[in-house]
Order: sequence, then structure tokens, then C-alpha cells
Amino acid sequence: MKKVEVHIRLGDCLDILSEMPDNHFDLIVTSPPYADSRAKTYGGIKPDKYVEWFLPRTQEMLRVLKPTGTFILNIKEKAVNGERHTYVLELILAMRKQGWLWTEEFIWHKKNCYPGKWPNRFRDAWERCLQFNKKKKFNMYQEAVMLPMGDWAESRLRKLSETDKTRDESKAQSGFGKNVSNWIGRDKVYPTNVLHLATECGNKNHSAAFPKTLPEWFIKLFTKEHDWVLDPFVGSGTTCQVAREMGRNSVGIEALLENYELALENANPVQHTLFEKEVPYETHYTA
Ligand SMILES: C[S@@+](CC[C@H](N)C(=O)[O-])C[C@H]1O[C@@H](n2cnc3c(N)ncnc32)[C@H](O)[C@@H]1O
Repeated sequence: MKKVEVHIRLGDCLDILSEMPDNHFDLIVTSPPYADSRAKTYGGIKPDKYVEWFLPRTQEMLRVLKPTGTFILNIKEKAVNGERHTYVLELILAMRKQGWLWTEEFIWHKKNCYPGKWPNRFRDAWERCLQFNKKKKFNMYQEAVMLPMGDWAESRLRKLSETDKTRDESKAQSGFGKNVSNWIGRDKVYPTNVLHLATECGNKNHSAAFPKTLPEWFIKLFTKEHDWVLDPFVGSGTTCQVAREMGRNSVGIEALLENYELALENANPVQHTLFEKEVPYETHYTA
């Protein structure tokens, strides 16, 4: 019988992470408080101070992540005095100096975002999911997130444009995947780095909870069953809840008591059979 563990801890992730062993986690997926946002709810950090505040925490995350592991950071810069602030860009540069590789950037398109009106911009309908790694070679299970081809793609591929044909025939072309016509007749394709996910979420008592589909997608892509997932800013516990449902062990850390209690509730263990083969599935958490 294999246990799936869910640990929810109360406190500043800087302190709690310092108690954890080196090279333990396969995936860190998190959405920290954005600069200055929701200051009344969980003490906003000024945009100018954000990098300074965040770096000691990413230092700990670097230590606890396995060399084959991945860190996904969901974040979005706000506009300050009519300009986009640069703290996320500065954070990327600072994290590279800290030893992280900035391997990829996924765009989370919030596909159900409703319109708004501002004098000089439109509503934000996307957020960054920055991918960082310790090494160039990391675990990635691309087949786990393949998509059905879909009718639209079939017709698009059947009527290859002249540009596609020229590109396909070009001598510079290399690799199976880059040749568009190689995908005709296949059931499944690899996704792009744009994730079209609705913002709707189950953990409604938290003002900024992930939709379950967001951690789920990254957990599928970067972990296997019984791997370890960490969310150091776990909020209402979505990441741990999803990790448990997917048979991954997880640790969630939350600084605010009311959110911590919510996370305990949402990650609340339910004894059930996860696998069709009737492998008993036992879950527990420790506070
Ligand atoms: C954007 S929310 C995360 C929401 C989460 N993804 C969910 O699905 O509910 C960020 C969370 O980080 C918590 N937080 C802020 N500072 C923290 C710290 N230093 N250590 C741990 N948690 C912290 C906040 O209380 C908040 O619940």
C-alpha cells in the first residue's frame, strides 16, 4: 500500500523551507502575492522592494528542488504610474544570478476574462507562468499533456498554406515536429506554451485561488505518481488538493491563519481508491 502525503504548514515559507532537506521536490508550482496587490488581505510588498523580498525565498527553493526538478512561478507585473513595472523582469535577471536557468515562459490566457475599461490599456487577460530549472536536463513528460488533434487542426493541416509547404520543403528544415505535414492523420498533438484556462476555481473563499486545471497541467507535465510537489504560497490549498487527487505527495505553506485553515479543509484527506486496479490510497496531512 502506497501512501500519498499532504503536508500543510503554517508560517512564512522562508522559515518553513529552511527546515526541509536539500534536493527533495520534483516540482514547485506557486503563485506568490503579487507586488502591492491585496495589501489589506496579506500585506502587499511594494513593487520596488519585491525582488529583495523574494530572493531569499527563491534561494531556499533552489536548495530544496531536485536537480531534475522544475519551478513554475505564476506572476504578473502591475502597472504603476501609467507604465508596466519591471519587477518581474528584474526578478528573472536576479534569479539567473542566483543560479536558476530561465528555461521557458508559459502564458496563462484567462479565457473567460470579462472586459474592463481603463484610459490607456485593456484588461489583463493573461499571466506569466515562468519556468526555472537547476539544470538543462530536467524531467518532462510531454506525452502526458498531449491534446486531441481536433477538427479545426485537421482542416488546417489538410490545406497547408504555400508558406507551410515552402517551409516544409526547405533544406533548413530539421526534425520531425517542425514539418507541419508530418502531423496529418495523427490523433494527438503537443500543446503550445499558451494555456487557455478559465479562471473559475473551486476554492472560492480565497480571493486569488488557482483554477485546479493550472497546477494539474504542470503536475502532469513535470511529475510522476508519488513524486513530491511544493507550493510555498499555497493559499486555499489548490496545489496540494490537486496533487493528492493525482497521487503525488505534496507540501503547502501558508502564512495567513485563515488561508491555512482553508487549505487544511481543501486538502482534507478522503480515503478512496485512486487507481482502477484498486490500489488502496491513503492520504494524511500534518500541521
Ligand atoms: C496568490 S495567493 C495563492 C493562492 C493559491 N494559488 C490558491 O490556489 O489558493 C498567495 C498566498 O501566499 C500567502 N503568503 C503571503 N506571504 C507568504 C509567505 N511569506 N509565506 C507563505 N505564504 C505567504 C498569502 O497569504 C496568500 O494566501
